[in-house]
Amino acid sequence: MATETTGEARRPVILSGIQPSGRLMFGNYLGAMRNWVRMQEDHDCFYMLVDLHAITVWQKPADLRRNTLESLALYLAAGIDPERHTVFIQSHVPEHSELAWILNCIAPLGQLQRMTQFKDKSLKHEKNLNAGLLNYPVLMAADILLYNADKVPVGEDQKQHLELARDLAGRFNHLYSETFTLPEPWIPPRSEGARVMSLQEPTAKMSKSDTDPNGVLFLLDPPAEIKAKIRRAVTDSGDSIGYDPEGRPGVSNLMTLFKAVTGEDFASLEARFAGKGYGAFKEELGEALVAYLSPIQQRTRELLGDKAQLEALLKQGAEKARWRARRMLDKVQRKVGFLPR
Ligand code: TYM
Repeated sequence: MATETTGEARRPVILSGIQPSGRLMFGNYLGAMRNWVRMQEDHDCFYMLVDLHAITVWQKPADLRRNTLESLALYLAAGIDPERHTVFIQSHVPEHSELAWILNCIAPLGQLQRMTQFKDKSLKHEKNLNAGLLNYPVLMAADILLYNADKVPVGEDQKQHLELARDLAGRFNHLYSETFTLPEPWIPPRSEGARVMSLQEPTAKMSKSDTDPNGVLFLLDPPAEIKAKIRRAVTDSGDSIGYDPEGRPGVSNLMTLFKAVTGEDFASLEARFAGKGYGAFKEELGEALVAYLSPIQQRTRELLGDKAQLEALLKQGAEKARWRARRMLDKVQRKVGFLPR
């Protein structure tokens, strides 16, 4: 296969996104962003901020604007290259909503109602139980299928949504004709952050919308706050350092963070902190997290200082994405039987 523009061998396509429904946190980083950066070498990457998804839960307009721009700056500060790849805002590419509608018309209602995230969010947002929450994974499928993504790097919580995207792709291909690539999820191992847990409740996943900010390590938390959150993190009974995510979720989660930012493996951590207790371990972890995040935070602040440049990047990203998305949507609309415009 050849690319349209260069005639080079086609690189596998990667696509992923994060909702700007709050400030980005360490779970987003380990489950998604860090892997996106690494995959840039040998893939053709599309990285979005999914603002259409974010509004399935009420967002104050000013917060949504701020979180979208701040998250974009964080993408770039973490090492995503908008020149070699495509970075854009979902709502800037209207083809996502258009394909989502078509996919809605082949999506089985029962399957959407059985989605774990829909069931969880329905309980959490009883007062705003809108149709967008139900159709959320269909829009996500549209995001992915529009670019014929081969792989989708996400955290463990997105696995079920990826299965739906594959089902919808297969269903469309069967009903009309071969059109969409079936996307594969790309999920890191647990020990590398597929499911980062809350610092306060280590049996629940860390979430940017947690009502207890002590449970969440935000990427832009000031150094003193990062250290304080780690000091306050819930650990388990006993005081030895040992990796056992089922039996000792608190300390195992902290070990995962430690390994992520220093590269030190679990055996070495266990040996080095034997007999020293949680205090020393947490102090070192706090320091290591601050050292790791400081340059990213500094770069984010610099980028946010030049809004015009960020906006120009977004314009360029939306144009690149639209070019690809439009061609795919035209093909889909033709197959469905819509008359050409
Ligand atoms: P969102 O914003 O909830 O999460 C963004 C990414 O972060 C991962 N993640 C985690 N990984 C490890 N531990 C955690 N505690 C943790 N919390 C979140 C998520 O798995 C995700 O990879 N539906 C998507 C957004 C989306 C999308 C897409 C993703 C919309 N369209 C197309 C891929 C492809 C989501 O949940 O975002």
